[in-house]
Amino acid sequence: MTGSDFFNCDLRLKEIIGLIESSRYILIWGERGAGKTSLCLEAARRCPQTRLLTISLRGLKSTDDLCRRIIKRVIHLEKDTPWLDKVIKTLIYLRPSLSVDPVMGITAVGLDGTLDLSQESLEDVFDLLESLFKKRRLLVVFDDFQDILAVDEVADLLVRFRQRMLFQSEILYIFIVRGQRPLERLFKDDRSPLKGTVRTVAAEPFSEDLWSAFLSGRFASNGRRIAPTTMQQLLASSGLLPGHSQKLCGALWDITAEGDEITRPQITKALEFIGSRESDHYGQIVNLLTEFQMKCLDAIARQGGKRVFSVAFLKAAGFHNPSSVQRAVGRLLNLDILEENQEGYRFVDPFFRAWLLTNHG
Ligand SMILES: Nc1ncnc2c1ncn2[C@@H]1O[C@H](COP(=O)(O)OP(=O)(O)O)[C@@H](O)[C@H]1O
Ligand SMILES: [Mg+2]
Repeated sequence: MTGSDFFNCDLRLKEIIGLIESSRYILIWGERGAGKTSLCLEAARRCPQTRLLTISLRGLKSTDDLCRRIIKRVIHLEKDTPWLDKVIKTLIYLRPSLSVDPVMGITAVGLDGTLDLSQESLEDVFDLLESLFKKRRLLVVFDDFQDILAVDEVADLLVRFRQRMLFQSEILYIFIVRGQRPLERLFKDDRSPLKGTVRTVAAEPFSEDLWSAFLSGRFASNGRRIAPTTMQQLLASSGLLPGHSQKLCGALWDITAEGDEITRPQITKALEFIGSRESDHYGQIVNLLTEFQMKCLDAIARQGGKRVFSVAFLKAAGFHNPSSVQRAVGRLLNLDILEENQEGYRFVDPFFRAWLLTNHG
């Protein structure tokens, strides 16, 4: 989502670009799907004097995993440059190999899997980062950094991050963090080594007015009209998160033709279109669930996720035992099917909810 597709709604992009030029540690914080990653990538794209290395910590398991992810991305970044030899030599003990996948045409990086990389290896990895990229400023992005909290030795890791980062004046680090609680633990808690190190940019939810104007404009530039009330309906169905509303707009675009005016029935059709396109994936999710978990999910889809453990909810859903509902909800949260907010539980994917409403129960 870059260039003209990128909704540049407020000062946040400008702010980040300013920080990229002037500081060394930046934190982009926001809720899931708020546009953190897109914001970071767009900012980096507009700073061509820097080189970008992105490392996703999504689902991180261990220190070994962390080292490997960084190394793989470094090798990938350097694969077409004269620096590659140097990287390979530094990492010879890991027997790095490069091969082109014949089907996808992408370069796969292989590392010896028998070694268990420890915190000392992380030091080497930081050395590696430092030794490279002397020519252009390096921008290292740790996306979904909150997942480092899942690693047992997280406290020690954070100490090492801090120690190394402080001395690496050529490198700019951007941490992308989702969720309030991880933000507190990683950057605000007195016990956290990273406390007070970063400049923060918040990826707040988009303003509904500006976002609808942007989307209407995109429709218009592609020869479709949409009335303001229909746009409201669209955003009510998708929610305000940019990825979700874009997806619904994309489906509307697919089922309409140039010159059309978008109508409410077309929104319903677009939701069904998304449902059938995603039905394999949705079916796979359903397969992961027990009958009881499915029942709970159906009940939440129909009745909403507020006050799920209240007597009224349990009764309406036909449940007797609140603690088994609690366990089921716990699993639905773990699988990232539901998420928790101040009001209760809601579907991570609103289109999955729509699909359930028309295909299940
Ligand atoms: N500024 C934006 N303009 C247009 N679309 C955006 C913008 N930010 C995010 N999106 C859309 O939302 C989706 C999710 O954004 P992403 O950056 O992945 O969110 P996050 O990293 O916060 O979970 C993107 O794939 C993109 O389609
Ligand atoms: Mg992201």
